[in-house]
Amino acid sequence: MNFRDKVVLITGAGSGIGRKAALMFAERGAKVAVNDIDEARGKETVEKIKENGGEAVFVHGDVSKTEVAKKIVSETVEIYGKLDILVNNAGIVPYGTIEDTDDEEFERTIAINLKGPFMLSKFAVMEMKKRGGGVIVNVASEAGLVGIPKRCIYSVSKAALIGLTRSLAVDYVEYGIRVNAVCPGTTQSQGLMARVNASPDPEALLRKMKSRIPMGRLGKEEEIAFAILFAACDEAAFMTGSIINIDGGSTAV
Ligand SMILES: NC(=O)c1ccc[n+]([C@@H]2O[C@H](COP(=O)([O-])OP(=O)(O)OC[C@H]3O[C@@H](n4cnc5c(N)ncnc54)[C@H](O)[C@@H]3O)[C@@H](O)[C@H]2O)c1
Repeated sequence: MNFRDKVVLITGAGSGIGRKAALMFAERGAKVAVNDIDEARGKETVEKIKENGGEAVFVHGDVSKTEVAKKIVSETVEIYGKLDILVNNAGIVPYGTIEDTDDEEFERTIAINLKGPFMLSKFAVMEMKKRGGGVIVNVASEAGLVGIPKRCIYSVSKAALIGLTRSLAVDYVEYGIRVNAVCPGTTQSQGLMARVNASPDPEALLRKMKSRIPMGRLGKEEEIAFAILFAACDEAAFMTGSIINIDGGSTAV
């Protein structure tokens, strides 16, 4: 997987899976636009890439706001001259059943997990069409494929992201734009570990999470990032509209 001369924009790349993917794209020659709502964390990813001899720039912004999504894409194109690959990775993981979900949580989750990727993809395809192609990778979730207890609005947002993936794949195949989704199972990311450590009994919670996974362990950030890179690479040229499960067997049972 070689990304030399490719320009990659990754949202939510200040942490976890997004940061790992940013580092791995840069190691393989990509110029990486690192987006995050958290400026300090985003800039830290850029520093790490530069320390490794890679090329990256920080593009600040909240993906849930249409004007900001537009600015994130246009800034990337202004800086690097084009956009080859968009990774819609930024996301939040609210907890609860439908009864636990109020208006505010509904709106916020849909805005970040669905409207963000929707609008970023819209502005990205406009740029990609001008240059004859591109790739979008949406980071969805196993929760978009199967029912996960107490993840109601999260599951709804990720199932819709899978719908967006297939719709874009069909509409933009004639423009040379490929669109795929990666569906991670429970992955030991910075974000997930922060949630685990904030729980009353982190050890018990980790044991419970592992017990639900046929492989008996959580995913690693790089295992998900590899799937993102594969979906984006030129060797995957025949793959579009694909939904890649990578979850230690969770959705196979
Ligand atoms: N970790 C898992 O177990 C798991 C499982 C399935 C799917 N996923 C998905 O993978 C993606 C990454 O997850 P992670 O665990 O690495 O997360 P994480 O919490 O470690 O990182 C997410 C990053 O997104 C940023 N972000 C949040 N809201 C934003 C916004 N509005 N605009 C821009 N940036 C924003 C955060 O600041 C953070 O840096 C998410 O879409 C998540 O739903 C994760």
